[in-house]
Order: sequence, then C-alpha cells, then structure tokens
Amino acid sequence: MSREAPHGAGSSVLPPGSGRDDRGRLTIGGCAVGELLRAVGTPAVLVEEDALRDAARAYVRAFPSPDARPSVYFASKAFPCPAVIRVFAQEGLGCDVASAGELAIALAGGMAPERILMHGNAKTDEELSAALVAGVGLIVVDSLDELDRLDRLVRERQAVLLRVNPAVAAPTHAAMATGHEGSKFGLSPAHLQIAIDRTQRHPLLRLEGLHAHVGSQITELEPFAGAVEALAGLGRFATYDLGGGLGARYTPEQPEPPGVQAYAQRLLDAARRHLPPEARILVEPGRSLVARSAVTVYTVVSVKRAARTFVSVDGGMGDNLEPMLYQTPFAPLVLDAERPLERCDVVGRHCETGDRLVEGAMLASPRVGDALVVPVTGAYCYSTSNNYNGACRPPVLLCSGGRARIVVRRETTADLLARSCDVPVGPEMLAQGVATWQ
Ligand code: LLP
Repeated sequence: MSREAPHGAGSSVLPPGSGRDDRGRLTIGGCAVGELLRAVGTPAVLVEEDALRDAARAYVRAFPSPDARPSVYFASKAFPCPAVIRVFAQEGLGCDVASAGELAIALAGGMAPERILMHGNAKTDEELSAALVAGVGLIVVDSLDELDRLDRLVRERQAVLLRVNPAVAAPTHAAMATGHEGSKFGLSPAHLQIAIDRTQRHPLLRLEGLHAHVGSQITELEPFAGAVEALAGLGRFATYDLGGGLGARYTPEQPEPPGVQAYAQRLLDAARRHLPPEARILVEPGRSLVARSAVTVYTVVSVKRAARTFVSVDGGMGDNLEPMLYQTPFAPLVLDAERPLERCDVVGRHCETGDRLVEGAMLASPRVGDALVVPVTGAYCYSTSNNYNGACRPPVLLCSGGRARIVVRRETTADLLARSCDVPVGPEMLAQGVATWQ
C-alpha cells in the first residue's frame, strides 16, 4: 500500500520547510495543516514564511548590491499581498509594481518608496502621478507616449529606465513570452534612440539605464544571457535591469529548473562579458521567490467514480487559473491519508468543463470530506483569483515556527456585494471628476 501521493512531505514541490509531526501529520512552517484547517476552513492558502525568507536570501547572496540600494526587486504581481511584501522588505529586497494598485499594496507592506520600481506598458496619468508623488526609485518607461506623459507630470528629479524589446524568443507558454519581436512590451530600436535623446536632454528625468524582460516560467538560462547581449550594443549605461522569469517546478516529475545561483552566474557572466564593468545589475524575480512557498488546501465535496474518477473540491478556477490559462500541471495529495493510490481528475466547483485543476492525479483513494493539498500555488494564483460563480476568495495564512497568522481574511458575500450601488450619473459627478466616483 502506498502512503498517499507519490511525493511525501519534504518532496521537491511542498514548501521546503514541510514535515511530519510526531503523529505523522503534514506540517507547514511547523503548523499541522489539519489543525489549521479546523480553525480557518477551506479553501485556504498556506504560506511557509521561512521559505519566502530563504528564497529572498538566496537572491540577495547571488546578486550582491554594491551599496544600500537593492539589486533584487520582487515582482509583486506574483503575490501582491502586503504581508508577503513586508517579509521581502525585511530581507532587503526592493519591489516591482505594475500599477497604482500594486504600488499601494507595496507601500502598505512597508516597502520604502525609493526601493520601488514601476512598470507597465499602459501607465495612465493617475498611475504615473501616484508613482511620482510616492517618490518611487525608478520608473521603467515603455513607450514614447509615456515620455510625453512624464514630461507633463514630473515636478522633481526622477530616475528612469527605458524598457527595450530585446527580440529574444523565450521557450515558455506563448502568453508568458514578452521579449520577442512583435511583443507589445518595450521600445523598438528606433524609438529607443529617440527616448534616449529625450531623457538625456530632459531637465528632470535622469536616464539610469535599460531594462529587458524576456518572459516568465523559463527553465533554460540561455534566453536570459541572450537579452544581456541584446542590451550590449545600445550604449553605455549605469544600470541594467534584466527582468525576472526564472521558472519553478510544479510536479516531482518535472526536471529541477536551474537554481538562483546558476541563474545569477549565467547572467552576471554575460554582463561581465557584454556590459560596462561598473554597471549595476538588477533583477525582478517573481515566481521563483514565491511559487513553492505556498499550498492551497481544499475539501473534497464529491467523488464520482465512472469511466474517470472526478474529485470535486470547494475551489477551482476562482483561486487557481494557472491550469486553465497556461496548462500548468500540479501534483496534489490527500492530506494525511494512507490508502491505495487511484488515478483521478481534480475538478473545481465552477460551472464549466474547463475548470479542471489536475488531470490524472494519483491520489490516496479520495473520500468526501478529505482535505486535498495542492502544492506550488504561491505564484500568480492569488493575483489572478476571481469571483466567478460568486466564489469568495480564500484566506492567506503565513506559517512559521509552529505559529500561523491570517494575513488576508476569507472573502465574504458581503464583500461580493460591497461595490453594488445605484448612483445617478449627473453633471455634478462630471464636475468632480471620475476618480472621486471610483
Ligand atoms: N518583470 C516584468 C517586467 C514582468 O512582466 C514579470 C512577469 C516579472 C518581472 C516577473 O516574472 P517571473 O519571475 O515571475 O517569471 N500571469 C502569468 C505570469 C505572467 C508573468 C508576467 N510578468 C501566470 O499566472 O503564471
């Protein structure tokens, strides 16, 4: 008889600090998962805080900064939660935000404004103003139109990077490649020259350097080095931001992606060869900092055994869109179960056939009421969660040293109704401006 899923605690996909307590129960950050669920219910996202800290420390070691400024910026889109950002701020990271909303979240997480870098291919006046008022360290300019906007809005000196399209096709899901020819991101070579001239002549904008990001969930190192080479012929700058993109492992069957050390070595080696020796090198990892730190735990609501075995859980595409958007595989396990393995499709609670979390998972003969643990849900699941079918989004718990804290509470039906209103649209509203009615 197999003891549960093919990967036990301490496997390559559970948070690194997972284990078993003296009663054989799965623990995350020293907390027995079953006990936590009794307190907070399901679905719930459990994050091992030390895994976040260890991942941050590995990055800081691999990309040492020559001064007090960060060289590693957490791409907050991967897990835009103030408590997570607070952990990274404590570990000395900066933060990449891609909207005024992410900026507010980063500031709420205690990130110092000068350690924040703002991205976005369609930053509005409101978003640029929010960044300028907050005093963010860097704005990464994505278009000539954005330079026009900045020119109108900037009142004090502001450091900027220019985002370049490096024309590097990264081996990843098409929706996650960003640096290929024909990508919507970055300045074309012709526009880049104009942008360099304009920023260098601008009285308030200070051109710090260039930025390139080739995509996400990349498990080979060459595309990253390719982007460095692409930046090399574009002039000499003080700073090069090489983006994020290092991939994560989602199932034990997938090969182990390169580690942070190997990634840094390849990147810094390419930088030494192609970029000015005194240049600052920045990176913006998202997924590789957070993916493995978290699991999502569901309750099995029904088990249908027919031609296939469908295991329905109390979550799904409302809290994890990765399988639907990118065909990301996951490797779930039945919590603390010792039964024979059975091939199952894990499906969600939503009203569509595409709401399938895992196809062909080997599970310990699931029963109604079991808790099902889905590892590697730390990246992009929280940020792309939604309310389809009126689903309330799960709480987030940080677990460390045997203690757990709820850092995002469970959404309620009152939250779902909170924006419902009946406000007549009239001239007074136009006079006050749209923003006041948001
Ligand atoms: N920097 C920039 C400019 C980015 O656009 C991204 C991710 C990152 C850094 C961080 O990349 P990472 O290290 O996390 O790979 N929605 C997809 C992911 C799209 C990533 C978008 N940009 C998902 O749910 O998997």
